[in-house]
Amino acid sequence: MPGGFGEADRAAARMHLDALWARGRAFLGTELAILGGAMSWVSEHRLVSAISNAGGFGVIACGAMSPELLEREIAATQAMTAKPFGVNLITMHPQLDELIGVCTRAGVGHVVLAGGVPSGAAVRTIKDGGAKVVGFAPALVMAKRLIKLGADALVIEGSEAGGHIGPVSLTVLAQEVLPNIRDVPVFVAGGLGRGDSILAMLEMGAAGAQLGTRFAASAESIAHERFKQAFVRAAARDALPSVQLDERFPVIPVRGLVNDGTRRFMVHQAETVRRFQAGELTREAAQLEIEHFWAGSLRRAVIDGDIEGGSVMAGQSVGMVTRVQPIPEILDELLEQALQSLMLRNAMTRTVAASGTH
Ligand SMILES: Cc1cc2nc3c(=O)[nH]c(=O)nc-3n(C[C@H](O)[C@H](O)[C@H](O)COP(=O)(O)O)c2cc1C
Repeated sequence: MPGGFGEADRAAARMHLDALWARGRAFLGTELAILGGAMSWVSEHRLVSAISNAGGFGVIACGAMSPELLEREIAATQAMTAKPFGVNLITMHPQLDELIGVCTRAGVGHVVLAGGVPSGAAVRTIKDGGAKVVGFAPALVMAKRLIKLGADALVIEGSEAGGHIGPVSLTVLAQEVLPNIRDVPVFVAGGLGRGDSILAMLEMGAAGAQLGTRFAASAESIAHERFKQAFVRAAARDALPSVQLDERFPVIPVRGLVNDGTRRFMVHQAETVRRFQAGELTREAAQLEIEHFWAGSLRRAVIDGDIEGGSVMAGQSVGMVTRVQPIPEILDELLEQALQSLMLRNAMTRTVAASGTH
């Protein structure tokens, strides 16, 4: 038995952990209250089914998929797992209603709405179709608003996360939201790479955790081998948010590995601002020039393996990716780290109690 603990110690720790994340497990219908956060191009049927089959909760990233493609992706996932999984839809997708219809017809149990505040109508349609709605809350006021809109659960994602990020770290967001939201389960995301840190969040009131970066580099992920090896090599400090050069031209913050693309983006912004100031571009055209720089770049990195020119979205937890591991091994490791932490603590409590009796 790892760590020198016995079966009874492990059973007690597991009971404790299961009590801590009971609400999250019940909501997701899973053995572990761990979601595989949706990642565009990465979270497709193979990764999603692998996470769900291993006891977690996989989420398909719909991203810019058409309704037909999403329908095929859901069917392919259902062919590979009988376990629950979800679909992540971006609220500003022009065919959001059709995508919701696809999820309803396919009997998807959970729809995660990302990319801004959803309309009340979208939330209602999903719920009327029988699915649960999960929303992203980047602040306490938003958490309350989403609950009023009808969200059945929330994800709070700290700025440590990979991909599009808000400004606040999970450490602070958790303190702001967890003590104040009891109506619905709240899942935490961003910078989580170990089971003991997930445990700490559960003890603060989280219902479960969502991870992305560690799963992106898993054996089952379809990401290019060069993409995965970049994750293995990277340290936490290599995953930085995109930098905005000029306050007149906003840049949506995206966390990813620094590479030639991120360096060229700075030059591109400087050149675009220069052209705007010289009267060669209107303000709108300049803003579009800046936004278009990254078009298609995540696909180039994930699928084509262009890790120098593409967008290698990664969270600070990338420092905890030490090798390409199968999904069941990653989930076992997370579980084991949480249990070891609880067993150590229980042993310490016994020692203190015993010393107190002398
Ligand atoms: C490569 C990559 C792509 C992502 N794409 C999306 C996305 O399309 N939609 C979304 O809601 N979140 C996206 N995320 C965020 C993840 O779902 C998850 O919340 C985040 O990775 C958790 O933090 P972590 O990276 O520290 O584990 C992405 C993350 C990564 C690393």
